[in-house]
Amino acid sequence: MSIVHITGARPNFPKAGPVMKALASKGSSQTLVHTGQHYSDAMSDIFFEQLSLPRPDVNLGVGSGTHARQTAAVMVGLEDLFLAERPDLVVVYGDVNSTVAAALVASKLHIPVAHVEAGLRSFDMTMPEEVNRRLTDQLSDLLLVTSEDAIEHLLREGLSRDSIHFVGNPMIDTLIANQHKFDVAAARQQFNLRGDYLVGTLHRPGNVDDEVDARKVVGALIEASQQLQVILPLHPRGRDLLMGLGLSDAGNVTVVDPLGYLEFMALVSGARAVITDSGGVQEETTVLGVPCFTLRPNTERPVTITHGTNQLVTAETLTKRLAIALESDRPTSWPVPPLWDGAAGERIAEVIKVWLETRA
Ligand code: UD1
Ligand code: UDP
Repeated sequence: MSIVHITGARPNFPKAGPVMKALASKGSSQTLVHTGQHYSDAMSDIFFEQLSLPRPDVNLGVGSGTHARQTAAVMVGLEDLFLAERPDLVVVYGDVNSTVAAALVASKLHIPVAHVEAGLRSFDMTMPEEVNRRLTDQLSDLLLVTSEDAIEHLLREGLSRDSIHFVGNPMIDTLIANQHKFDVAAARQQFNLRGDYLVGTLHRPGNVDDEVDARKVVGALIEASQQLQVILPLHPRGRDLLMGLGLSDAGNVTVVDPLGYLEFMALVSGARAVITDSGGVQEETTVLGVPCFTLRPNTERPVTITHGTNQLVTAETLTKRLAIALESDRPTSWPVPPLWDGAAGERIAEVIKVWLETRA
């Protein structure tokens, strides 16, 4: 039985790692494809080094482009590969362009698709990720969900209950497996952080593509930095615009390049709070008990609010909400969403193995 895993962008790597490891221990034959959607060392290579992922067997090298160009380039590359290899299953992760491209190509070739992180919904079709999620789920034979709300979404969209499996969150497997390596003291020293500090990450088009929105976000970060020093490992998207709007010229904001997983998670572990628009970071802060302020009008991960430390804010409400949060200490105990326990990769591997055996 041959299984092809499709990765391409930064959030794919910590999700694929635990699944591949668990399948390897069951003796599965696996191919790892990197589409090349992300290619800078800090957005790609460093994850393979730090997370002990196998080197990709294939890198399609598609690079950046418009949605159509990038998605199409992944599709063309994968079609050749799937025709040559005829895998028994294609596993796709999350909601990036590489995810939907792979699902579309595989399904047209009648190759089954497993979607890890199925069923998340922001109900905001202006987000490219929401388009990618909905289409990918419709094309998938195995829907592997990280939280129970996802099950309802998939059923409402007409997907079969038999194809849905609540397996937990493989991103959190990676966190738990590496937590002992998060060196907060070293991170503090590296970035000259003396007292309490905030960590920020930003890359959503809704925050960083348009000058009007970006200006508000920069203003909100500078205001936040009047309460506590902000360290901002900045995604390349929107970097020029945000910097051009004075992100690092005022206040107490330190902008650095994107960080490796271990350095980034060390910073987050030690932070007083996090300001972000990232999907993964909402989940990681939930498990670490770090207050998280999500600069978005919605989230596809409501479990991080109902069971976690996350709250949605706008550029206008951030300062006040942060001030309220800083009045109390970081929580000493907190609930964690069901099955975010470090064993999701194992459960996914078992579902895949049984499914492939039954099919055979
Ligand atoms: C993509 C995903 C998004 C995910 C994010 C994670 C889609 C539609 N979007 O957004 O869901 O949250 O990855 O980080 O798939 N760039 C570099 N180096 C790189 C990669 C990108 O400099 O290695 C720059 C390029 O200028 C590029 C821009 O970042 O145009 C955006 O990259 P792209 O992959 O198109 O989208 P992301 O914003 O990274
Ligand atoms: N991350 C990292 N270094 C950084 C920022 C993020 O290692 O400088 C990790 C972190 O684990 C995060 C993951 O990359 O959850 C995915 O991040 P991103 O915000 O790019 O993607 P999203 O989850 O929003 O799709």
